[in-house]
Amino acid sequence: MSRFHSLTIVDRRQETADSVSLAFAVPEALREEFAYQPGQYLTVQATIDGEECRRSYSICSGLDENELRIAVRRIEGGRFSRFANDALGAGARLDVAAPEGRFTAEIGAGRHYAFFAAGSGVTPVLSIVRSLLAADAGARATLFYGNRTTASIMFREALEDLKDRHLGRLAVFHVLSRESQEIDLLNGRLDGARIGLLLRAVAPPTEVDAYFLCGPFGMIEDGRRALLAAGVEPSRIKAELFSTGGAPAPAPPTAAHVAHDGEAQVDCILEGRTHRLSVAANALVIEAAHAQGFEIPHSCKGGMCCTCRCRVLEGAVAMDVNYSLEPWEIEAGYVLACQSRPLTPKVTLDFDAA
Ligand SMILES: Cc1cc2nc3c(=O)[nH]c(=O)nc-3n(C[C@H](O)[C@H](O)[C@H](O)COP(=O)(O)OP(=O)(O)OC[C@H]3O[C@@H](n4cnc5c(N)ncnc54)[C@H](O)[C@@H]3O)c2cc1C
Ligand code: FES
Repeated sequence: MSRFHSLTIVDRRQETADSVSLAFAVPEALREEFAYQPGQYLTVQATIDGEECRRSYSICSGLDENELRIAVRRIEGGRFSRFANDALGAGARLDVAAPEGRFTAEIGAGRHYAFFAAGSGVTPVLSIVRSLLAADAGARATLFYGNRTTASIMFREALEDLKDRHLGRLAVFHVLSRESQEIDLLNGRLDGARIGLLLRAVAPPTEVDAYFLCGPFGMIEDGRRALLAAGVEPSRIKAELFSTGGAPAPAPPTAAHVAHDGEAQVDCILEGRTHRLSVAANALVIEAAHAQGFEIPHSCKGGMCCTCRCRVLEGAVAMDVNYSLEPWEIEAGYVLACQSRPLTPKVTLDFDAA
């Protein structure tokens, strides 16, 4: 059964010159399946210029708004983001899978959360902040938001509106790299040094329950290092990677990847059924599956979104990269199928494992 549903776009808003937000109508019969936690994303799929294109987009609406909306920023040369900005509007239909993702926050416990976001990385943050402030009168949020100029800030008015509506509970600091502001600390890129200074000055670990990082690879890595250096425990840091641009290229397959010379037999358990695949030595499981007509649940294929998460029940695989599984998940035997190459002649992967 396909996990995608054809949903109609009911509203399109131009958020900035290079970004739009799109709201979907969710039929009554799909309400439960499309219920979401703030911070989760949708996987969308379209055929563009004859090629199937699948991407993840975070939900930007809040739980109090009774809508399902995503926001897409145009990427230079980007296939789907160009299509979404140029061709999608009210009345168009798109294949959409149910919400997924673990970039979520505990709501209702009077927490203070701090967020570091760059560019479109503010999308899930807006959903969390909006939902948090509306649902929990004791909660507070501090957002450090990096952009080039004021004109490129997504959801600027929505954030101002939230500040006015929840006086004293939301602080927003715009960090601009190509426009000068009065406070020097807010001029430049949201890099590790600046994140370190900002968190010490405004959101120290003694006053913040958890930190959220969302954006491209460089900002997330810089931010994580700065937070750890400031003494924040890893369990209080959450991150969502939007693009691997700037990440070191995965190491070429090593001897460990070619431990057996023949084909591996890989059994994939999905929705209670077992599908048997033959995977050539050193090949990626997801590519072999595709070639053999079996679809492994996936979205980014880059180790970021976790849609392809499964548990190794038998044998072993090696992952090229992992940007989304947490250390406890690795220890418990979870892997990302989009990054996995069999290490043993027989492997069993369970996609139904919770
Ligand atoms: C969990 C998750 C949530 C996401 N949420 C959002 C969201 O809410 N809003 C949003 O706009 N995007 C979001 N993204 C990114 C989105 O999924 C796409 O990767 C992005 O829109 C580019 O797709 P494309 O088809 O236009 O570009 P592609 O055709 O896939 O890529 C074109 C070129 O652009 C580069 N590239 C891809 N993404 C980026 C990027 N973000 N920055 C710079 N260069 C890039 C590629 O390496 C490639 O060289 C999210 C990604 C993940 C994994
Ligand atoms: S498909 Fe996104 S991590 Fe594998």
